Amino acid sequence: MKTIITGDRPTGKMHLGHYFGSIQNRVKMQYDYDTYILIADVQALTDNFDNPEKVRNSVRELALDYLASGIDPKHSHIYIQSLIPEVAELTVYFSNLVTVSRLYRNPTTKHEAGQKKDKFGESGETITYGFLGYPVSQAADITALDGDVVPVGEDQVPHIEQTREIARKFNSIYGETFKEPEAVLSETPRIKGLDGNEKMGKSLGNAIYLADNEAEITKKVMSAVTDPSKIKKDDPANPDICMVYYYHKLLKNENLDTVCSECNAGSRGCVACKKELIKVMLEFLEPIQERRKYYEEHPEEVEKILKEGTEAARARAKEVMQRVRKNMKLDYFE
Ligand code: TRP
Repeated sequence: MKTIITGDRPTGKMHLGHYFGSIQNRVKMQYDYDTYILIADVQALTDNFDNPEKVRNSVRELALDYLASGIDPKHSHIYIQSLIPEVAELTVYFSNLVTVSRLYRNPTTKHEAGQKKDKFGESGETITYGFLGYPVSQAADITALDGDVVPVGEDQVPHIEQTREIARKFNSIYGETFKEPEAVLSETPRIKGLDGNEKMGKSLGNAIYLADNEAEITKKVMSAVTDPSKIKKDDPANPDICMVYYYHKLLKNENLDTVCSECNAGSRGCVACKKELIKVMLEFLEPIQERRKYYEEHPEEVEKILKEGTEAARARAKEVMQRVRKNMKLDYFE
């Protein structure tokens, strides 16, 4: 069986963008792969080193979101990154194999640096060594557990590419040690926001969280962007430029054809259409929220899942690191 290594930073609640971008794919794949899902608390600290409270609380929230979404602890190991010291060790060895200019060229970190209003490579005002180097630690996350495939959102592809480069370089210097993992993207690697933005994101203010209640969903859906040429309730409109229709489609509304034809014909008002979407969305979220509630009420189960997942991941990393130390001639007393 091939191995999946993937995960997310614990920095807040998960939204539909995460769900369709990567989580749904992991849920589907977990039955056919040896699956390890990491809660990347060390990586979260690269941005939040001065807010350990936030990272700590988000670890639990992320575990709940995973379990709620259908990550099944019988098929997947969920583990905490900081509890695998072998990964930190491997990160140090890898850091020799990556040039600083290569790190500056990573488009994802470049974009994130831009959000911090730092001109990447020109000023070191806010960009720390840890932030610049997090793709190296991500490469260690994946290779320390011998990962084959990495189901992630599209923003992570540059990191997996860098992981492959590092693995290749390591192998060429120290002998065949690592596989080159592959990124796997979902059918919908990026979903649009109800506001028409190309992307859903917390910082964009258009996120629909998996844990949102009816009042929150209603507020968000009612303010969705529709075909601007439709002024009156019975004006015909074009569903292809309507975000409400986009979500009917995304959430697989069974009446999709009716939604489309009524919208085209002008026999469907936007308010009614939004109300139908609220219903579809709540139905979609119901099983997710039910599972979340169960695990919220059973924190001891969540703790056990994380503990066992972490033990399994650590056992694997220990084995891989023996191989690494041997190949690097660091196996002094063995
Ligand atoms: N960079 C990922 C994110 O921002 C989290 C992550 C850390 C990750 N290590 C990983 C993803 C290893 C896949 C594989 O969410």
